[in-house]
Amino acid sequence: MKESNPTDPIGQNIIKLISNVCFSVFVFSVLIFTVIAITYQPPDPWESSRALTKVFTDVENATFKTDTSVLKTGEDIAASPMSTPMAMGTPITEATIEKSEEELGKNTTLKSGCEDVSVVNCSDPRVLIAIQRFNLRAFKAISFLDYQTPVNGSNPNECDVAWRFRNKKEKSWRRYRDFRRFKMGFKDDCSYKVVRPGRWHSGINARRFRSRVSSPGNGQKDKFTPFVRDDEINDTIPVLGSDSDFKKGKYLYYSRGGDYCKGMNHFIWSFLCALGEAEYLNRTFVMDLSMCLASTYTKSSKDEEGKDFRFYFDFEHLKEVSSIVEEGEFLKDWKRWDKSHKSKIPVRKVASYKTTPMQLKKDKSTIIWRQFDAPEPENYWYRVCEGPAAKYINRPWQDLWKSKRLMNIVSAISGSMDWDFDAVHVVRGEKAQNKELWPHLDADTSPEALVAKLQGKIEPWRNLYIATNEPFYNYFDKLRSHYKVHLLDDYSYLWGNTSEWYNETTTLNGGRPVEFDGYMRVEVDTEVLYRAKTRVETFYNLTNDCKDGVNTC
Ligand SMILES: *[C@@H]1O[C@H](CO)[C@@H](O)[C@H](O)[C@H]1NC(C)=O
Ligand SMILES: *[C@@H]1O[C@H](CO)[C@@H](O)[C@H](O)[C@H]1NC(C)=O
Ligand SMILES: *[C@@H]1O[C@H](CO)[C@@H](O)[C@H](O)[C@H]1NC(C)=O
Ligand SMILES: *[C@@H]1O[C@H](CO)[C@@H](O)[C@H](O)[C@H]1NC(C)=O
Ligand SMILES: *[C@@H]1O[C@H](CO)[C@@H](O)[C@H](O)[C@H]1NC(C)=O
Ligand SMILES: *[C@@H]1O[C@H](CO)[C@@H](O)[C@H](O)[C@H]1NC(C)=O
Ligand SMILES: *[C@@H]1O[C@H](CO)[C@@H](O)[C@H](O)[C@H]1NC(C)=O
Ligand SMILES: *[C@@H]1O[C@H](CO)[C@@H](O)[C@H](O)[C@H]1NC(C)=O
Ligand SMILES: *[C@@H]1O[C@H](CO)[C@@H](O)[C@H](O)[C@H]1NC(C)=O
Repeated sequence: MKESNPTDPIGQNIIKLISNVCFSVFVFSVLIFTVIAITYQPPDPWESSRALTKVFTDVENATFKTDTSVLKTGEDIAASPMSTPMAMGTPITEATIEKSEEELGKNTTLKSGCEDVSVVNCSDPRVLIAIQRFNLRAFKAISFLDYQTPVNGSNPNECDVAWRFRNKKEKSWRRYRDFRRFKMGFKDDCSYKVVRPGRWHSGINARRFRSRVSSPGNGQKDKFTPFVRDDEINDTIPVLGSDSDFKKGKYLYYSRGGDYCKGMNHFIWSFLCALGEAEYLNRTFVMDLSMCLASTYTKSSKDEEGKDFRFYFDFEHLKEVSSIVEEGEFLKDWKRWDKSHKSKIPVRKVASYKTTPMQLKKDKSTIIWRQFDAPEPENYWYRVCEGPAAKYINRPWQDLWKSKRLMNIVSAISGSMDWDFDAVHVVRGEKAQNKELWPHLDADTSPEALVAKLQGKIEPWRNLYIATNEPFYNYFDKLRSHYKVHLLDDYSYLWGNTSEWYNETTTLNGGRPVEFDGYMRVEVDTEVLYRAKTRVETFYNLTNDCKDGVNTC
């Protein structure tokens, strides 16, 4: 023992040295690994156009470091125009106008000359024709679908007319409504012309798109109006019907997973995976309409539960195009069945996402119940779609549209600028503060830089809509001496407590008012941005920083 003493310090030193080296190597490798983990970002479907074109075919590991100031859904990324329901009607074109003009021409009883030239008769079909032709030339971004017969405005020579339209830039078949007041006059040849068109929703006498229930006893009620239901959004929760209907169905039921209260991109990525699996298995998806809004989107800066899916997304469309059942209805029916029958409903419980959809395909159980009890990140829904499953499951993006109530706000904003505006997307927020990953973003989106960079891209005094996550309203004031600046907050009356949106969401929410939250703001901003004539993006238009941080482009 004593003899070995002198060597001991050396031995200890060597051990110390070795362990130090090992520790350094360990630290270093952890560091490298961390760096890789931080900088590695697989493509995400919302951001890069390359990924977007693949979005319908590819399922890859998601990243949720996406830009949260825009959000694309099915109506933005459809590859081809969606199939058009029969009831939609055909757009009015110059050709259809000429046709109705010709028809009028043949009816010699109708005046076409200069008698009575002082009076504008709003019910005269020629008034409508003049207005249709005017609209067609003025609003090139719009498809006009049907008009109502004009009615008197508040002064002589004014006519109010209502119509339905869709925006050509929106790849859904949804229709919106406008009604405007036109001041009419006569051309030299005594035909009608539009002297002054009214603003968005100015034709209040034509506002009621009456369902025109014809007089009682008249057998042909509803004949006039194949499109009555269109104004109301029917996103009621469907009920399943009888016990035997319930038993006949096949369901895919997902318990709440780690996705709950995560960001909306994460929600969409997961939800569409689940819906995709249900479609792959030919099963009805059991859907929880109650959502949790992540703190980044709430006024309280805390996660908020009890948000309704229908605040954000178009449930009417979803239930039309996919097979879903609401969770509460489903559980009620399931319980009722088990209570009143001796044989229980066959259920296959699936504990882990590692059981693939392909393995479940042959399963005949009425209910397949995925449970997601594992700790994060093993409990994310979207993991079901990873790996080999990616080849079999397509996320049905076309099923998920934005809420029509929000889209009505989008139409009101773009319509109030007569669809004649340019837009700039200014990404600031966390990215602007992160100088390591986006060294120039903050400076490149400063008010001075914006003024300098937008000149040459956008003509002076155009309507300029700014879609942004910059919270400070006056941040863009410098632009006001060059452009007519519009910000989302300028339109707060559209969701204020006297608005249609407020009324409808309050009703949907059982009488409690709904906050117009950050996520709704993002949806509206995104859609207005997409309707602009000229669009200036933050990345690659305003700044050379890469969208996903240093060295990612
Ligand atoms: C997805 O993640 C799994 C493990 O989580 C990994 O093995 C796989 O390579 C990833 N796929 C892609 C395309 O990144
Ligand atoms: C024009 O006359 C034809 C029959 O000649 C009739 O079918 C049509 O409804 C008339 N059009 C209008 C606008 O009165
Ligand atoms: C207005 O035009 C409609 C349709 O052409 C006609 O029935 C009506 O008599 C006209 N009214 C006046 C006051 O000229
Ligand atoms: C519309 O106005 C014209 C004259 O401006 C008038 O003759 C006609 O009665 C009015 N129609 C209705 C339905 O009020
Ligand atoms: C709303 O849609 C449901 C189907 O989801 C349907 O049963 C119901 O009749 C519709 N209500 C109206 C008012 O159209
Ligand atoms: C679902 O239906 C389609 C067509 O009806 C069929 O090709 C497919 O094999 C079915 N899938 C399952 C899991 O039954
Ligand atoms: C609507 O909001 C305004 C301002 O926020 C407030 O003064 C008013 O009392 C509210 N009205 C109702 C009916 O809540
Ligand atoms: C919505 O408006 C209608 C009619 O304007 C009114 O009857 C109803 O009470 C309103 N609902 C809410 C929740 O404010
Ligand atoms: C923005 O950048 C893209 C890609 O570099 C370019 O195609 C586009 O024309 C630019 N837009 C404007 C308004 O300068």
